[in-house]
This record gives sequence, structure tokens and C-alpha cells, in this order.
Amino acid sequence: MNSALNNDISKVLLSGEEIEKRVKEIAAEITRDYSGESVLMVGILRGAVVFFSELVKRVDLDVRFDFMVVSSYGAGTDSSGELRIIKDLSQPIENMNVVIVEDIIDTGYTLKNLKRMLETRNPKSLKIAALLDKPSRRKVEIEGDYVGFKVPNEFVVGYGLDYNEKYRNLPDICILKPGVYS
Ligand code: IMP
Ligand code: MG
Repeated sequence: MNSALNNDISKVLLSGEEIEKRVKEIAAEITRDYSGESVLMVGILRGAVVFFSELVKRVDLDVRFDFMVVSSYGAGTDSSGELRIIKDLSQPIENMNVVIVEDIIDTGYTLKNLKRMLETRNPKSLKIAALLDKPSRRKVEIEGDYVGFKVPNEFVVGYGLDYNEKYRNLPDICILKPGVYS
């Protein structure tokens, strides 16, 4: 819990404990799937930071880190969703096993475009790990290879996810009180 932000929360959707249990399972899956291989884990800033940190320390492989900042013009609109790269990877990924680590798949524009763009760099493999999936909001076809939880069509914060850059440090995934948005 967080007493500074407590008053803004209407409901805890997923507790930190539940999330931790699921993150351990995903880490075990990744460890199994890439047995004997090295993996570049790419965290998408800033929303994936908490999930990324909890995940990587439990992946029992030769792991390297990189980070990207991206935004999708299409997110929240009906446009085709062009990808804007604000911070690119700091290394080539040719012949590497790459796992993109993202907070949530919502419309799908961001990950669909990011995946298409990174494929052109010829990685050995390219997969997506997303903590949350909101399938009811999807506008383009894209699926996570590792997904923590499916969530209903509600705006969620905490565990890295924000509303106007706030609430990222909440230890649980929460739904805010309606008054907070207005
Ligand atoms: P997309 O719509 O799949 O392209 O998702 C783009 C981004 O929107 C995600 O990476 C999140 O940062 C943000 N987002 C989507 N749904 C939520 C939510 O419920 N809470 C907080 N951020 C969200
Ligand atoms: Mg994000």
C-alpha cells in the first residue's frame, strides 16, 4: 500500500503478491524456452520498468539489457499507427534472441509497429513479454508470447503503469476513482 496515493484508488485489480507469483512463472517459461542461449531483454520505458526489473532477476540465462522509448501515433486514434522512436536500442540485434518487455498491450499499435521495425534488423528470434493484455481494446492483430494477465477494459495504474506520469510506484495494479480523471 501507499498512503500518499491511497485516497485515489477505487480498487486493487491485481495485488503485488499475485503479480510476483505470475512474474516468477513467466521467468521460468523464458528460462526453459531459451535454454542454452543468450537473450537480450528490451524494456520499453517507462511503463515496463517495474515488470522488467522483477522479471530479469529471475531469468536464469545469459541475459543482456537494453531499453527503448517509443510512442505510436495511432494509439488512441483510428489512424494506421506510425511508430515514433524517441530512444532507440544502443546496439545491433542481428542474430540475437530478443524479448521485448512491455507493460500492456492495449490497441496493439505500439507493439505491432515495434515488432515489424525490429524484424527488419534480423534478430535470431523476437518475442514479446507483456505484463497485461487488454484484448477488448485491440485494433490491430498482435499477441504477446508471454502475458501476465488479461485485464478488463478499464484504465489501470501501478506496477509501472501511470496516469499522467503518476501512480507508477504503486505496488499493485489498481483502478482509480472516477474523480481522479476529471
Ligand atoms: P497500445 O495502445 O497497445 O499501443 O498501448 C500503448 C501504451 O498505452 C502502453 O504501452 C501503455 O503505456 C499505455 N496504456 C494503455 N492502456 C493503459 C492503461 O490501462 N493504463 C496505463 N497505461 C496504458
Ligand atoms: Mg508505455
